[in-house]
Amino acid sequence: MDIELLNTAMEAFNSAASNLQTSYDALKEETKRLRDEVELKNVELSYFSNLLESVLNNTPSAILVVNERAEFAVKNSAADALLADMGEKALKDMLAGSLHQGLFEYNADGGRYYRINAGELHSDGLNGVVYVVDDITLLKKFELERQRGIQLQLMGEMAANIAHEIRNPLGSIELFASLLERDLQSSAPSAVKMTSNIVQAVRTLNSIISNTLLFTKEINVNKEEFILADIVDEAVLYLQPLLMKKDVAVLNRLEETHKVFCERGLFYQVVMNILHNAIDAVPDKGGEVEITSEMGAFQRYPLKLSITDNGCGIAPAMQDKLFIPFQTTKTKGAGLGLSIAYKIVKAHGGDIIVDSDGTSYTRFTVIL
Ligand SMILES: Nc1ncnc2c1ncn2[C@@H]1O[C@H](COP(=O)(O)OP(=O)(O)OP(=O)(O)O)[C@@H](O)[C@H]1O
Ligand SMILES: [Mg+2]
Repeated sequence: MDIELLNTAMEAFNSAASNLQTSYDALKEETKRLRDEVELKNVELSYFSNLLESVLNNTPSAILVVNERAEFAVKNSAADALLADMGEKALKDMLAGSLHQGLFEYNADGGRYYRINAGELHSDGLNGVVYVVDDITLLKKFELERQRGIQLQLMGEMAANIAHEIRNPLGSIELFASLLERDLQSSAPSAVKMTSNIVQAVRTLNSIISNTLLFTKEINVNKEEFILADIVDEAVLYLQPLLMKKDVAVLNRLEETHKVFCERGLFYQVVMNILHNAIDAVPDKGGEVEITSEMGAFQRYPLKLSITDNGCGIAPAMQDKLFIPFQTTKTKGAGLGLSIAYKIVKAHGGDIIVDSDGTSYTRFTVIL
């Protein structure tokens, strides 16, 4: 009886042990599966955490989280650089000055501009504000330049309108002064000088206005063939009062056969601007301006027109910026003459070359 009982108990024990073994094996299996899963999750977590860190640190925006104790709880590399650049106090002042929500522009010391985007942050164990800070100094500069450009353009258009309106009455003044000069020649010779001064002053004004108009408008070229000497003669004649006033000799050595393929009015302005400069540069009495031309073989292009003066010359530093607008050494100069001449010659597909020793002569050669 006792043995039978013992056997039954033994069997029950064996069966329980076997059940336990099966459960244990299942548990072991489950533990291994869970461990594998955790490992996989860990790999994923580390991958995403590295990715997040790398995104944060490679973004050009400074990203910072300021916690409730006003400490930097999180900051990326750009924020570290900003902190090093501005210093902690200035950076905290800037952030404190911005709103806790939305966009904000800040003009820091040293003329730098920042755009701050702020949002509240409530995360596990971290409450504060997340800031995204961008340096928009360059953007601001472009914006200001663009606005200035628009204003300048409007001013240019206005100047062109005014210049245009002034040209008509000027033409009348010049005409009447010339007529007066002719009438006074016999009756009041002493007054002739005064009228010729009026004519000269009006011509100077006219040339300033022509240059201003050419500077503001786009140059479109309609080329035709002309005798070069005709255009140059006309410019010399126009400048006659000035030449006489300074007693400058013009040595015109142009070949009568040389022709120029150009838009007459524009090319005339080129010759005029270069000649005018030459006359300005030479001394009173003893000044000489020599005009020569050269042409390619068989009377073909290119045509070279050279205007040489024995004036003060052009210093090397000035030679580099001659064709840039508003570069002048004259008290009454606008610094437009050569930049316009260059613009016109380039629009013709040509070039202007300058040669000067900086003290005693200057030669401008126009190649078309
Ligand atoms: N033949 C020259 N000899 C010496 N300097 C010259 C000569 N031509 C030009 N320059 C120099 O180049 C500068 C620019 O000439 P540019 O004709 O563009 O302007 P400007 O004569 O000063 O003024 P604007 O022609 O608008 O009345 C002059 O101020 C002068 O310093
Ligand atoms: Mg000039």
